[in-house]
Amino acid sequence: MLVPDPRAPVVARLGMRKVVITVDDSVFWLEKFCIRRWVEIVTVTALLGLADFAHIDLHVPWVAAVILVLVSAMALLLIPFIRRAVARHFRLTRWRIRLEAATRHDGRLAQYPPTVKAVLRTPHATSLTVQLRPGTGLADLERVKDELETYYRAGAVRLIRDGRDGSLVKMRIVHGQPLSGPPLAWSGPTGRFSIFDPIILGVGEDAQPVQIRLVENHLLLGGSTGSGKSNCANVILGVIGCDPTVKIYILDGKDLDHVAKRPLCAGHVGADPLAALDLLQGISDEMRSRTVWLADNGLRKVTKGCGLAPLVVFIEEFPFYSQSGKAGKEINELVRDISARGRAAGIILIMTVQKPAADTIPTNIRDLISLRIAFRCATKEASDTVLGGGWASSGYTASNIALEDRGVGYLLADGGVPELFKSFYVSEDQEAAVVKTAVDLRKGGVKND
Ligand SMILES: Nc1ncnc2c1ncn2[C@@H]1O[C@H](COP(=O)(O)OP(=O)(O)OP(=O)(O)O)[C@@H](O)[C@H]1O
Ligand SMILES: [Mg+2]
Repeated sequence: MLVPDPRAPVVARLGMRKVVITVDDSVFWLEKFCIRRWVEIVTVTALLGLADFAHIDLHVPWVAAVILVLVSAMALLLIPFIRRAVARHFRLTRWRIRLEAATRHDGRLAQYPPTVKAVLRTPHATSLTVQLRPGTGLADLERVKDELETYYRAGAVRLIRDGRDGSLVKMRIVHGQPLSGPPLAWSGPTGRFSIFDPIILGVGEDAQPVQIRLVENHLLLGGSTGSGKSNCANVILGVIGCDPTVKIYILDGKDLDHVAKRPLCAGHVGADPLAALDLLQGISDEMRSRTVWLADNGLRKVTKGCGLAPLVVFIEEFPFYSQSGKAGKEINELVRDISARGRAAGIILIMTVQKPAADTIPTNIRDLISLRIAFRCATKEASDTVLGGGWASSGYTASNIALEDRGVGYLLADGGVPELFKSFYVSEDQEAAVVKTAVDLRKGGVKND
């Protein structure tokens, strides 16, 4: 859309005469200054008024009056909430001016400049709550995202619409590449955990914990080999293991990464499609008996304390099973059925896939999975297969993650925007320690259902 330049000469007619009115740049500058700095202008005017009052009505000499007023103003700054309010005001003004400068080359944003409502600084990112003016939208900010990154010299600028107020956008300015670098140490669960509580996977770009809630959800972890899927699964399974009420079934398509967890599993199979088929058949039968139990007890789904605990099925490298001939077809059908009907019965499906594509993870299974994590993928298409169509074109693609950034991925939770995070790193020793804690908790005599 073409936006008229406010500095363009205005042509008016006075009777027969044509008058050209040219607006000087300095007028705009003054107007802008007054708008931006009205609080300072009002404050200085008020202080001068007080000094004038002291001079004229109280007969204090001018210089003394000014010093008195300034000292009183300084004394006010000793009150913490006034000091905080002043600091907040200056911080907001500074970021407002910077945002205006960063977007001034865009016609529409220059005409209706967005304003900053709040600023939150964390070690690696600054989060701005930006208010858009009528006439502009999130798409306008998305259009100038590159320019914003240049202006702020940021590693990345993320824009997330506020779900409750369409005029508000959360702009996260990421300084550098906070998720690159050494592995994140995992403290691991040291005691009992409840699967109904969130599981912390790692940290986001703003240094805040990134977590998921698994109950009533399924999870897909996708990414090329060595991107960090099994390690992230270790975090999840280690934490879940410490909920002794939860039955865990593991189908380890690589027969390698999850051998240590065998003692805490209700069922564990390796790279054997027929054994996997048997196990899934058993889980499917259990799903049916759980549904009957729920119906008999007048319940619609498994909830905390209902008498039936959730059950977790983890499939490492799902395509290994699903593409193994006749058994593979049956496995596909069983997994589709479990993902469709398992939610109410408390069955949580977690799968990893190395080469996400329509033939390795069929759409009818993928579409039933609400939580997705895309670690580094070879292509935008592979990333979109994990996260869902269209995210790559909005700038969220795991193909941008550097090869050396193992464990960095996008988490997409139902209905949100993909969030870049780095998962904790689980060493072999830590895994063994967590398995020991989990086995001890399970031996504690806690009955499952
Ligand atoms: N969060 C992390 N932080 C640091 N290093 C990590 C992280 N996750 C994984 N790694 C490193 O990357 C290696 C490969 O990780 P992992 O086995 O989880 O990859 P994968 O995606 O499961 O690979 P594959 O598809 O081949 O099984 C690990 O051995 C570890 O050295
Ligand atoms: Mg793996």
